[in-house]
Amino acid sequence: MRPRTHDCGALRLDHAQQQVSLAGWVNSYRDHGGVIFIDLRDRGGLTQIVFHPEHADAHKLADRLRSEDVIWVRGIVVPREAGMANPKLPTGGIEIQAHELEILNKAETPPFTPDEAHKVAEETRLRYRFIDLRRPRMQQILKTRYRVTKIMRDYFEQQGFYEIETPFLCKSTPEGARDFLVPSRLQEGCFYALPQSPQLFKQILMVAGMEKYVQIVRCFRDEDPRADRQAEFTQLDLEMSFVNQEDVMNVVEGLMRKIWKDILNIDVPPLKRMKYDEAMGRYGSDRPDLRFGMELVDVSDLAKTTDFKVFRGAIDAGGLVKAIRVPGGAKLTRKETDAITEWVKQFGAGGLPLCKVEDGKLATGVAKFLEPISAALVQRMGAVNGDLICFGADARSKVVHRVLGELRVRLANEMKMIQPGQWEWLWVVDFPLVEWNDGEKRWDAMHHPFTSPNAEDMDKLSGDPGAARAQAYDIVCNGSELGGGSIRIHRPDVQQQVFSLLGITPESAQVKFGFLLDALKFGAPPHGGLALGLDRIIMHLEGTTNIRDVIAFPKTQNGADLMLQAPSTVEESQLRELHLRLAPVVKKATTEQ
Ligand code: AMO
Ligand code: AMP
Repeated sequence: MRPRTHDCGALRLDHAQQQVSLAGWVNSYRDHGGVIFIDLRDRGGLTQIVFHPEHADAHKLADRLRSEDVIWVRGIVVPREAGMANPKLPTGGIEIQAHELEILNKAETPPFTPDEAHKVAEETRLRYRFIDLRRPRMQQILKTRYRVTKIMRDYFEQQGFYEIETPFLCKSTPEGARDFLVPSRLQEGCFYALPQSPQLFKQILMVAGMEKYVQIVRCFRDEDPRADRQAEFTQLDLEMSFVNQEDVMNVVEGLMRKIWKDILNIDVPPLKRMKYDEAMGRYGSDRPDLRFGMELVDVSDLAKTTDFKVFRGAIDAGGLVKAIRVPGGAKLTRKETDAITEWVKQFGAGGLPLCKVEDGKLATGVAKFLEPISAALVQRMGAVNGDLICFGADARSKVVHRVLGELRVRLANEMKMIQPGQWEWLWVVDFPLVEWNDGEKRWDAMHHPFTSPNAEDMDKLSGDPGAARAQAYDIVCNGSELGGGSIRIHRPDVQQQVFSLLGITPESAQVKFGFLLDALKFGAPPHGGLALGLDRIIMHLEGTTNIRDVIAFPKTQNGADLMLQAPSTVEESQLRELHLRLAPVVKKATTEQ
């Protein structure tokens, strides 16, 4: 192929009269009375190419051009005629008068062109990802992704970290999700697990004296994908020896500050700290979105003086009643409030008592039950006419917080309370070490089983584990958890103690994590670290709420790669080699008659 002199975003009026050659894809094609115009596109941008009939060979070939053909052209840069400049394009002042054209590859009529991608279903875009990724927007996102990983690597190099690779074929680590398993051919009946994170390897690397480890690494969790979750995603994973919580947080904060400055030219101020209990109590979430108010207000003391059965029921069962004030929420229609009432039920609520504020008093909804406390509630909530007040009442504080926490985020979005360009960062600290799993009747690790309890809470492990706090911290941006980490347990006796609290017997600890317990016995330094979700960072930087937009080849909701058509069945012989036989596929029983 003949060389090109520039990319399609490079040429300006300064280049006028130069002979140039460009290559790329035909973005659009117009024939204006024998003069053919095309917009040629490559990674750099778009340039207008003009084919006049006097260059007969090129013109004749150009006549056959269609969208997405790949071509090479040579011509002269000329200023566009007066009034024809396109100020929206960096190359909009010029065009190329082409005298040579080579068609490098004809394209069949594509299922969509990059310009039309926004009109087609996401499934179609994913099926033909190679066309979708030709869009400038997608190219921009992938470029940002590359720039961010480059900033990360440079930053950690300066700080003396080593990037060390850890295996993908390994053993299940308990990050709490389901494992992807890989059957072993060489060891019949045995399976590898793909790592949910390199957690144990990085701890072992600290025991091995590496002191500062970092890795940009793929992690695998067999969970249902969501808007901000993929089964296969990327972490910036780090671990440090001889550090405390503040040291790790400072390193991470410095990184975020550098990324936001370099990519968005935004200065991230020193991050606020908020204790887990405060985050739950005021925002109903351990990743509070601080871009808007609607804080949760405890009104249990007022609620318990009423006869309203929902309030009384909650309080009498040892629960609580909290409320949020939705500014201007009175304008929501009955249909809209009915819809949110139904919606909150998925978070465990029995319903959603609400009322409007009119004439300085509670009105409509449950106002009739609350007359004696109407004035006090209006005052407590700081409510004004036109507001809506929503209550969470339940025997379980967890449900009240979850319901109102989810509700405030939904309403803030729906009612457009979030200004573009707002950034609210914080560290959530002082997480509980464990949480009670009522279904299984056992304590589960809140972060993971290797997280160190707060030194002063060690005695709570046996008496009151729920009250023990952990040296764990999450970094939160605009209501999304960008990363989480902890100081780890580095003493084998403490690790054993936490395992036994979590119901992991010494025998099973030996089978699952014997290597870690061994490592802790042979000289483990105090250490801690954190992992950031790279995909989520890029989502924030590029302002998208769809994680699939920031991954070149993502999976759909049901875990499919539509381009590869994966997962797929395999040859019987492959199964045999892996010592596997498939159970007959059981058709789901249907209740339809
Ligand atoms: P954790 O499980 O909190 O911690 O994960 C760290 C960060 O990874 C991102 N993340 C995800 N991103 C996309 N899709 C997913 N399915 C997904 N799951 C997690 C989030 C999250 O904050 N080993 C510990 C870290 C440590 O203790 O050092 C860990 O993996 O942004
Ligand atoms: P009802 O008395 O059933 O008409 O309910 C009055 C209001 O309380 C409605 O707004 C319901 O959504 C709400 N509600 C009813 N039951 C519960 C419950 N168990 N928990 C919370 N809210 C409830």
